[in-house]
Amino acid sequence: MFSRTAMLWQRCGKGRIQPEVAAKIEQAYKTISNSNSKSLVKKHLTKETYEKLKDITTPMGSTLLDCIQSGAANLDSGVGLYAPDADAYTVFHELFNPLIAEYHSFKNSKHPPSCWGDPVAFSNIDPSNKYIISTRVRTGRSIKDYPFAAKMTEDDYKELEQKISMAVNSFQGELQGTYYPLKLLVPTEQQKLVDDHYLFKEGDRFLTAAKICRFWPTGRGIFYNPSKTFIVWINEEDHMRIISMQKGGDIMAVYKRLKEGAEYLETCMEFAHNDKYGYLTSCPTNIGTAIRASVHISLPHLAANRTKLEEIAGRYNLQVRGTEGEHTESVDNVYDISNKRRLGLTEFMAIKEMSDGIRELIKHEESGDE
Ligand code: ADP
Ligand code: ARG
Repeated sequence: MFSRTAMLWQRCGKGRIQPEVAAKIEQAYKTISNSNSKSLVKKHLTKETYEKLKDITTPMGSTLLDCIQSGAANLDSGVGLYAPDADAYTVFHELFNPLIAEYHSFKNSKHPPSCWGDPVAFSNIDPSNKYIISTRVRTGRSIKDYPFAAKMTEDDYKELEQKISMAVNSFQGELQGTYYPLKLLVPTEQQKLVDDHYLFKEGDRFLTAAKICRFWPTGRGIFYNPSKTFIVWINEEDHMRIISMQKGGDIMAVYKRLKEGAEYLETCMEFAHNDKYGYLTSCPTNIGTAIRASVHISLPHLAANRTKLEEIAGRYNLQVRGTEGEHTESVDNVYDISNKRRLGLTEFMAIKEMSDGIRELIKHEESGDE
Protein backbone atom coordinates (compact mmCIF):
# COMPACT_ATOMS: atom_id res chain seq x y z
CA MET A 1 0.00 0.00 0.00
CA PHE A 2 2.90 2.37 0.73
CA SER A 3 4.69 3.76 -2.33
CA ARG A 4 8.35 2.77 -2.76
CA THR A 5 9.50 6.23 -1.60
CA ALA A 6 7.26 6.03 1.45
CA MET A 7 8.65 2.62 2.37
CA LEU A 8 12.23 3.85 2.10
CA TRP A 9 11.22 6.86 4.15
CA GLN A 10 9.70 4.72 6.91
CA ARG A 11 12.96 2.79 7.11
CA CYS A 12 15.17 5.89 7.14
CA GLY A 13 13.18 7.64 9.83
CA LYS A 14 10.97 10.66 10.10
CA GLY A 15 11.27 14.11 8.58
CA ARG A 16 12.51 17.03 10.66
CA ILE A 17 9.99 19.68 11.45
CA GLN A 18 11.20 23.27 11.84
CA PRO A 19 10.24 24.88 15.19
CA GLU A 20 8.10 27.57 13.52
CA VAL A 21 6.17 24.86 11.61
CA ALA A 22 5.78 22.83 14.81
CA ALA A 23 4.29 25.92 16.48
CA LYS A 24 1.82 26.38 13.59
CA ILE A 25 0.82 22.70 13.77
CA GLU A 26 0.08 23.06 17.45
CA GLN A 27 -1.85 26.29 16.86
CA ALA A 28 -3.96 24.70 14.09
CA TYR A 29 -4.68 21.67 16.27
CA LYS A 30 -5.70 23.87 19.22
CA THR A 31 -7.91 26.07 17.02
CA ILE A 32 -9.75 22.99 15.76
CA SER A 33 -9.98 21.11 19.04
CA ASN A 34 -11.08 24.16 21.08
CA SER A 35 -13.79 25.03 18.56
CA ASN A 36 -17.40 23.92 18.17
CA SER A 37 -16.67 22.93 14.59
CA LYS A 38 -18.85 20.13 13.22
CA SER A 39 -16.15 19.16 10.72
CA LEU A 40 -14.94 15.59 10.32
CA VAL A 41 -11.37 16.75 11.00
CA LYS A 42 -12.40 18.07 14.41
CA LYS A 43 -14.10 14.77 15.17
CA HIS A 44 -11.22 12.55 14.11
CA LEU A 45 -8.17 14.60 15.13
CA THR A 46 -8.14 13.35 18.70
CA LYS A 47 -5.37 14.28 21.14
CA GLU A 48 -3.90 10.82 20.74
CA THR A 49 -3.88 11.04 16.93
CA TYR A 50 -2.42 14.55 17.05
CA GLU A 51 0.44 13.38 19.28
CA LYS A 52 1.24 10.55 16.84
CA LEU A 53 1.22 12.74 13.76
CA LYS A 54 2.52 16.14 14.79
CA ASP A 55 6.21 15.36 14.29
CA ILE A 56 6.18 13.34 11.09
CA THR A 57 6.35 14.25 7.43
CA THR A 58 5.78 12.48 4.13
CA PRO A 59 8.79 11.75 1.89
CA MET A 60 7.89 14.94 -0.03
CA GLY A 61 8.05 16.87 3.24
CA SER A 62 4.34 17.44 3.86
CA THR A 63 3.30 17.89 7.49
CA LEU A 64 0.10 17.62 9.48
CA LEU A 65 -0.25 21.40 9.01
CA ASP A 66 -0.55 20.92 5.24
CA CYS A 67 -3.42 18.51 5.90
CA ILE A 68 -5.43 20.45 8.49
CA GLN A 69 -4.77 24.15 7.80
CA SER A 70 -7.95 24.58 5.74
CA GLY A 71 -10.07 23.02 8.49
CA ALA A 72 -8.42 25.31 11.07
CA ALA A 73 -9.01 28.45 9.02
CA ASN A 74 -12.57 27.41 8.10
CA LEU A 75 -14.25 26.01 11.17
CA ASP A 76 -17.48 25.68 9.18
CA SER A 77 -15.84 23.05 6.94
CA GLY A 78 -17.77 19.83 6.49
CA VAL A 79 -14.53 17.89 6.21
CA GLY A 80 -11.56 20.24 6.71
CA LEU A 81 -8.80 17.86 5.59
CA TYR A 82 -6.68 17.76 2.41
CA ALA A 83 -3.89 15.48 1.23
CA PRO A 84 -0.85 17.51 0.12
CA ASP A 85 0.60 14.48 -1.66
CA ALA A 86 -0.28 10.83 -2.32
CA ASP A 87 1.76 9.49 0.62
CA ALA A 88 -0.17 11.65 3.10
CA TYR A 89 -2.96 9.06 2.91
CA THR A 90 -0.63 6.43 4.38
CA VAL A 91 1.78 8.49 6.50
CA PHE A 92 -1.13 10.24 8.27
CA HIS A 93 -3.43 7.21 8.11
CA GLU A 94 -4.48 7.51 11.77
CA LEU A 95 -6.35 10.66 10.78
CA PHE A 96 -7.32 9.91 7.18
CA ASN A 97 -8.63 6.36 7.67
CA PRO A 98 -11.45 6.99 10.15
CA LEU A 99 -12.47 10.23 8.43
CA ILE A 100 -12.60 8.49 5.04
CA ALA A 101 -14.52 5.54 6.50
CA GLU A 102 -17.16 7.92 7.84
CA TYR A 103 -17.50 10.15 4.76
CA HIS A 104 -17.76 7.30 2.24
CA SER A 105 -19.50 4.80 4.57
CA PHE A 106 -16.45 2.71 3.66
CA LYS A 107 -16.40 -0.51 5.60
CA ASN A 108 -14.13 -2.59 3.37
CA SER A 109 -10.40 -2.68 3.66
CA LYS A 110 -9.97 -2.19 -0.08
CA HIS A 111 -11.57 -0.16 -2.85
CA PRO A 112 -12.77 -2.51 -5.66
CA PRO A 113 -10.86 -2.51 -8.94
CA SER A 114 -11.99 0.07 -11.44
CA CYS A 115 -15.05 -1.11 -13.43
CA TRP A 116 -16.93 1.25 -15.74
CA GLY A 117 -19.27 -1.49 -16.98
CA ASP A 118 -21.52 -0.92 -19.96
CA PRO A 119 -23.06 2.59 -20.03
CA VAL A 120 -25.91 1.19 -22.14
CA ALA A 121 -27.28 -0.29 -18.91
CA PHE A 122 -28.40 3.26 -18.04
CA SER A 123 -31.21 5.09 -19.75
CA ASN A 124 -32.50 8.66 -19.65
CA ILE A 125 -33.58 9.39 -16.05
CA ASP A 126 -36.12 12.00 -17.13
CA PRO A 127 -37.30 11.19 -20.68
CA SER A 128 -40.12 13.74 -20.49
CA ASN A 129 -37.55 16.52 -19.76
CA LYS A 130 -39.73 17.80 -16.93
CA TYR A 131 -37.32 17.87 -14.01
CA ILE A 132 -33.70 17.45 -15.04
CA ILE A 133 -32.08 20.51 -16.56
CA SER A 134 -28.64 18.97 -17.09
CA THR A 135 -26.51 15.98 -16.18
CA ARG A 136 -22.79 16.05 -15.40
CA VAL A 137 -20.34 13.33 -14.39
CA ARG A 138 -16.80 14.21 -13.39
CA THR A 139 -13.83 12.38 -12.05
CA GLY A 140 -10.50 13.59 -10.65
CA ARG A 141 -6.99 12.37 -11.41
CA SER A 142 -3.51 13.16 -10.09
CA ILE A 143 -0.33 12.46 -12.00
CA LYS A 144 1.91 9.94 -10.27
CA ASP A 145 5.06 11.22 -8.53
CA TYR A 146 4.00 14.87 -8.38
CA PRO A 147 2.86 16.54 -5.16
CA PHE A 148 -0.80 17.49 -5.04
CA ALA A 149 -1.83 21.14 -5.46
CA ALA A 150 -1.07 22.22 -1.88
CA LYS A 151 2.64 21.40 -2.24
CA MET A 152 3.30 22.06 -5.92
CA THR A 153 5.96 24.57 -6.91
CA GLU A 154 5.32 27.09 -9.66
CA ASP A 155 7.45 24.93 -11.95
CA ASP A 156 5.35 21.85 -11.10
CA TYR A 157 2.26 23.81 -12.17
CA LYS A 158 3.87 24.74 -15.48
CA GLU A 159 5.23 21.25 -16.11
CA LEU A 160 1.94 19.53 -15.40
CA GLU A 161 0.00 22.00 -17.52
CA GLN A 162 2.38 21.20 -20.36
CA LYS A 163 2.04 17.40 -19.95
CA ILE A 164 -1.73 17.36 -19.49
CA SER A 165 -2.49 19.87 -22.23
CA MET A 166 -0.46 17.78 -24.67
CA ALA A 167 -2.51 14.72 -23.73
CA VAL A 168 -5.89 16.43 -24.01
CA ASN A 169 -4.93 18.04 -27.29
CA SER A 170 -4.55 14.53 -28.74
CA PHE A 171 -8.23 13.55 -28.34
CA GLN A 172 -9.97 12.53 -31.57
CA GLY A 173 -13.60 12.50 -32.70
CA GLU A 174 -16.31 13.90 -30.42
CA LEU A 175 -13.84 14.56 -27.60
CA GLN A 176 -11.45 16.60 -29.74
CA GLY A 177 -11.18 20.21 -28.59
CA THR A 178 -8.96 23.10 -27.53
CA TYR A 179 -7.06 23.95 -24.35
CA TYR A 180 -7.44 27.49 -23.00
CA PRO A 181 -4.92 28.57 -20.35
CA LEU A 182 -6.66 30.72 -17.74
CA LYS A 183 -4.02 33.43 -18.26
CA LEU A 184 -5.19 33.89 -21.85
CA LEU A 185 -8.93 33.99 -21.19
CA VAL A 186 -10.38 37.51 -21.20
CA PRO A 187 -12.30 38.18 -17.94
CA THR A 188 -15.72 38.35 -19.64
CA GLU A 189 -15.12 35.02 -21.41
CA GLN A 190 -13.92 33.45 -18.16
CA GLN A 191 -16.97 34.72 -16.25
CA LYS A 192 -19.34 33.41 -18.94
CA LEU A 193 -17.76 29.95 -18.68
CA VAL A 194 -18.23 30.05 -14.88
CA ASP A 195 -21.83 31.30 -15.15
CA ASP A 196 -22.64 28.55 -17.67
CA HIS A 197 -21.25 25.93 -15.23
CA TYR A 198 -18.32 24.89 -17.40
CA LEU A 199 -15.41 26.45 -15.48
CA PHE A 200 -14.28 26.45 -11.86
CA LYS A 201 -14.64 29.61 -9.79
CA GLU A 202 -11.70 31.54 -8.41
CA GLY A 203 -10.82 32.17 -4.79
CA ASP A 204 -12.62 29.35 -2.95
CA ARG A 205 -11.76 30.04 0.70
CA PHE A 206 -11.38 26.34 1.59
CA LEU A 207 -8.89 25.80 -1.23
CA THR A 208 -7.09 29.09 -0.55
CA ALA A 209 -6.52 28.13 3.09
CA ALA A 210 -5.31 24.69 1.97
CA LYS A 211 -2.66 26.58 -0.12
CA ILE A 212 -4.14 25.18 -3.30
CA CYS A 213 -4.54 28.58 -5.02
CA ARG A 214 -0.87 29.66 -4.94
CA PHE A 215 0.67 31.05 -8.16
CA TRP A 216 -2.85 31.52 -9.59
CA PRO A 217 -3.50 31.57 -12.58
CA THR A 218 -0.22 29.89 -13.54
CA GLY A 219 -0.73 26.37 -14.87
CA ARG A 220 -4.52 26.51 -14.66
CA GLY A 221 -6.85 26.17 -17.60
CA ILE A 222 -9.77 24.49 -19.30
CA PHE A 223 -10.01 22.19 -22.30
CA TYR A 224 -13.33 21.67 -24.06
CA ASN A 225 -14.81 20.30 -27.26
CA PRO A 226 -16.88 22.60 -29.50
CA SER A 227 -20.21 21.47 -28.00
CA LYS A 228 -18.80 21.83 -24.44
CA THR A 229 -19.97 18.33 -23.59
CA PHE A 230 -16.46 17.15 -22.76
CA ILE A 231 -14.23 19.26 -20.54
CA VAL A 232 -10.94 18.87 -18.69
CA TRP A 233 -9.91 21.26 -15.93
CA ILE A 234 -6.17 21.50 -15.38
CA ASN A 235 -4.70 22.27 -11.95
CA GLU A 236 -7.71 23.53 -10.07
CA GLU A 237 -8.13 21.46 -6.88
CA ASP A 238 -6.65 18.40 -8.61
CA HIS A 239 -4.15 18.02 -11.42
CA MET A 240 -7.05 17.00 -13.57
CA ARG A 241 -10.82 16.99 -13.49
CA ILE A 242 -12.38 15.14 -16.40
CA ILE A 243 -15.97 16.20 -17.03
CA SER A 244 -18.80 15.11 -19.30
CA MET A 245 -22.05 17.07 -19.32
CA GLN A 246 -25.09 17.93 -21.40
CA LYS A 247 -28.63 19.24 -21.13
CA GLY A 248 -31.37 16.83 -20.02
CA GLY A 249 -31.23 13.51 -18.20
CA ASP A 250 -29.42 11.19 -20.62
CA ILE A 251 -27.01 9.72 -18.08
CA MET A 252 -26.05 6.94 -20.49
CA ALA A 253 -24.61 9.38 -23.06
CA VAL A 254 -22.87 11.48 -20.39
CA TYR A 255 -21.32 8.48 -18.64
CA LYS A 256 -20.24 6.83 -21.91
CA ARG A 257 -18.39 10.00 -22.94
CA LEU A 258 -16.65 10.30 -19.58
CA LYS A 259 -15.61 6.65 -19.66
CA GLU A 260 -14.09 7.12 -23.11
CA GLY A 261 -12.20 10.25 -22.06
CA ALA A 262 -10.89 8.87 -18.77
CA GLU A 263 -9.81 5.58 -20.33
CA TYR A 264 -7.96 7.39 -23.10
CA LEU A 265 -6.09 9.65 -20.66
CA GLU A 266 -5.03 6.59 -18.67
CA THR A 267 -3.12 5.46 -21.78
CA CYS A 268 -1.24 8.80 -21.87
CA MET A 269 -0.18 9.13 -18.21
CA GLU A 270 0.26 7.19 -14.99
CA PHE A 271 -2.08 8.26 -12.23
CA ALA A 272 -1.62 8.33 -8.44
CA HIS A 273 -3.47 5.28 -7.16
CA ASN A 274 -3.29 2.73 -4.37
CA ASP A 275 -5.04 -0.57 -3.71
CA LYS A 276 -6.82 0.55 -0.59
CA TYR A 277 -8.13 3.91 -1.78
CA GLY A 278 -8.20 3.71 -5.60
CA TYR A 279 -7.42 7.00 -7.35
CA LEU A 280 -5.85 9.54 -5.02
CA THR A 281 -6.71 13.24 -5.12
CA SER A 282 -6.33 16.36 -2.95
CA CYS A 283 -9.50 15.90 -0.95
CA PRO A 284 -10.38 12.67 0.87
CA THR A 285 -13.97 13.10 -0.34
CA ASN A 286 -12.76 12.66 -3.92
CA ILE A 287 -10.76 9.41 -3.82
CA GLY A 288 -11.69 5.91 -5.03
CA THR A 289 -13.58 6.38 -8.27
CA ALA A 290 -13.37 10.19 -7.78
CA ILE A 291 -16.74 10.21 -9.53
CA ARG A 292 -19.35 12.83 -8.82
CA ALA A 293 -22.41 12.23 -10.97
CA SER A 294 -24.91 15.05 -10.65
CA VAL A 295 -28.09 16.42 -12.07
CA HIS A 296 -29.39 19.95 -11.93
CA ILE A 297 -32.96 19.21 -11.06
CA SER A 298 -36.03 21.32 -10.44
CA LEU A 299 -37.98 20.05 -7.42
CA PRO A 300 -40.51 22.72 -6.36
CA HIS A 301 -42.64 20.39 -4.24
CA LEU A 302 -39.78 18.78 -2.40
CA ALA A 303 -38.12 22.19 -2.00
CA ALA A 304 -41.04 23.12 0.23
CA ASN A 305 -40.06 20.26 2.53
CA ARG A 306 -36.30 20.29 2.75
CA THR A 307 -36.35 17.67 5.51
CA LYS A 308 -38.12 15.21 3.23
CA LEU A 309 -35.73 16.03 0.38
CA GLU A 310 -32.71 15.40 2.61
CA GLU A 311 -34.29 12.23 4.00
CA ILE A 312 -34.80 10.66 0.56
CA ALA A 313 -31.38 11.86 -0.62
CA GLY A 314 -29.76 10.36 2.49
CA ARG A 315 -31.45 7.00 1.90
CA TYR A 316 -29.76 6.81 -1.50
CA ASN A 317 -26.41 8.24 -0.33
CA LEU A 318 -27.02 11.41 -2.33
CA GLN A 319 -25.70 14.86 -1.53
CA VAL A 320 -27.75 18.01 -2.14
CA ARG A 321 -25.88 21.14 -3.27
CA GLY A 322 -27.06 24.57 -4.46
CA THR A 323 -27.40 25.60 -8.10
CA GLU A 324 -23.96 27.21 -8.42
CA GLY A 325 -22.15 24.22 -6.91
CA GLU A 326 -20.64 23.42 -3.56
CA HIS A 327 -21.32 25.81 -0.68
CA THR A 328 -24.04 27.66 -2.62
CA GLU A 329 -27.81 27.93 -2.21
CA SER A 330 -30.56 26.68 -4.49
CA VAL A 331 -31.99 29.20 -6.95
CA ASP A 332 -35.60 28.74 -8.18
CA ASN A 333 -35.83 25.30 -6.50
CA VAL A 334 -33.04 23.91 -8.69
CA TYR A 335 -30.65 21.63 -6.85
CA ASP A 336 -27.38 19.94 -7.74
CA ILE A 337 -27.87 16.38 -6.52
CA SER A 338 -25.08 13.79 -6.74
CA ASN A 339 -23.68 10.57 -5.31
CA LYS A 340 -21.88 11.28 -2.03
CA ARG A 341 -19.76 8.13 -1.90
CA ARG A 342 -16.94 7.83 -4.39
CA LEU A 343 -14.95 5.11 -2.60
CA GLY A 344 -15.77 1.48 -1.91
CA LEU A 345 -17.88 1.06 -5.04
CA THR A 346 -17.11 0.82 -8.75
CA GLU A 347 -17.65 3.61 -11.27
CA PHE A 348 -20.70 1.71 -12.53
CA MET A 349 -22.16 1.41 -9.03
CA ALA A 350 -21.59 5.11 -8.32
CA ILE A 351 -23.67 6.03 -11.39
CA LYS A 352 -26.32 3.48 -10.45
CA GLU A 353 -26.54 4.87 -6.92
CA MET A 354 -27.09 8.35 -8.29
CA SER A 355 -29.61 7.38 -10.97
CA ASP A 356 -31.66 5.16 -8.63
CA GLY A 357 -31.85 7.97 -6.08
CA ILE A 358 -32.82 10.59 -8.65
CA ARG A 359 -35.59 8.34 -10.00
CA GLU A 360 -36.96 8.05 -6.48
CA LEU A 361 -36.84 11.83 -5.98
CA ILE A 362 -38.71 12.32 -9.26
CA LYS A 363 -41.34 9.79 -8.13
CA HIS A 364 -41.94 11.82 -4.96
CA GLU A 365 -41.96 15.10 -6.86
CA GLU A 366 -44.54 13.70 -9.31
CA SER A 367 -46.81 12.57 -6.54
CA GLY A 368 -46.78 16.18 -5.28
CA ASP A 369 -45.34 14.94 -2.02
CA GLU A 370 -44.31 17.65 0.43
P1 ADP B 1 -17.21 19.56 -8.67
O1 ADP B 1 -16.41 19.23 -7.48
O2 ADP B 1 -17.98 18.39 -9.14
O3 ADP B 1 -16.47 20.22 -9.78
P2 ADP B 1 -18.69 22.00 -7.91
O4 ADP B 1 -19.79 21.95 -6.91
O5 ADP B 1 -17.49 22.84 -7.65
O6 ADP B 1 -18.35 20.50 -8.15
O7 ADP B 1 -19.31 22.42 -9.31
C1 ADP B 1 -18.57 22.83 -10.42
C2 ADP B 1 -19.50 23.44 -11.47
O8 ADP B 1 -20.25 22.40 -12.07
C3 ADP B 1 -20.52 24.43 -10.90
O9 ADP B 1 -20.69 25.50 -11.79
C4 ADP B 1 -21.78 23.59 -10.84
O10 ADP B 1 -22.97 24.37 -10.89
C5 ADP B 1 -21.62 22.78 -12.10
N1 ADP B 1 -22.46 21.58 -12.13
C6 ADP B 1 -22.47 20.55 -11.26
N2 ADP B 1 -23.39 19.64 -11.61
C7 ADP B 1 -23.99 20.12 -12.73
C8 ADP B 1 -25.02 19.63 -13.57
N3 ADP B 1 -25.63 18.48 -13.36
N4 ADP B 1 -25.36 20.40 -14.64
C9 ADP B 1 -24.75 21.57 -14.89
N5 ADP B 1 -23.77 22.07 -14.14
C10 ADP B 1 -23.39 21.35 -13.07
N1 ARG C 1 -12.88 21.47 2.52
C1 ARG C 1 -14.25 21.74 2.24
C2 ARG C 1 -15.11 21.35 3.43
O1 ARG C 1 -14.62 20.64 4.26
C3 ARG C 1 -14.73 21.04 0.99
C4 ARG C 1 -14.77 19.54 1.06
C5 ARG C 1 -15.26 18.79 -0.14
N2 ARG C 1 -15.21 19.51 -1.35
C6 ARG C 1 -14.16 19.64 -2.16
N3 ARG C 1 -14.26 20.45 -3.18
N4 ARG C 1 -13.07 18.96 -1.97
O2 ARG C 1 -16.26 21.75 3.52
